[in-house]
Amino acid sequence: MHAAERQWNGEPRRPVFIQGDAHRLPVADGSVDVVFNLESALHYADKDAFLSECRRVLKPTGTLCLGDITTTRSRLFAPLTLLNGLPSQFNTNIYLWSCADYKAAFERHGFEMTVHEDASAPVARSLAGGIAEVKQRGWRASKGFRGRTALLALIEHLLRKRHLAYDLFRATPRA
Ligand SMILES: C[S@@+](CC[C@H](N)C(=O)[O-])C[C@H]1O[C@@H](n2cnc3c(N)ncnc32)[C@H](O)[C@@H]1O
Repeated sequence: MHAAERQWNGEPRRPVFIQGDAHRLPVADGSVDVVFNLESALHYADKDAFLSECRRVLKPTGTLCLGDITTTRSRLFAPLTLLNGLPSQFNTNIYLWSCADYKAAFERHGFEMTVHEDASAPVARSLAGGIAEVKQRGWRASKGFRGRTALLALIEHLLRKRHLAYDLFRATPRA
């Protein structure tokens, strides 16, 4: 948050940054126009609590825009969830839902899903482009972010194999 605030230092009109847990949003009921959540909900242990909070804070005319990495191969990724029970250095903090899980949860929490787009292919292409650029610059130039590059290469592979997907949703509160 401090980095975000620093970026706006000296600007006459600045956004307000509030830090909090997605499972308990520190925001008043019915006060929000848009909840924009990108590649973050995969880390929330209780996505139902998060979606219930989104429904609570959104105005009746509000919109939830959510992009997340999902899977239909829950057994393949079950070991990741098991690691979450271990001490923090081994904890992946990854709890993957499927697209169908999200659609059912929107229904449960009083949302109407108005848009769904499977963006797996363009996201994989974009990752492949970034990884190719890193390779072109050479291994030496990637010092400091090699681990992250390897992780992104793995995600690109899993997206291409359809073991992972990248889903974009728009949902609005049901009247
Ligand atoms: C993969 S990053 C995505 C960040 C950003 N949305 C982006 O696209 O660059 C996931 C973010 O979720 C945050 N996060 C994880 N669990 C959270 C929680 N329970 N409440 C609030 N933020 C959380 C992490 O701190 C991290 O900044």
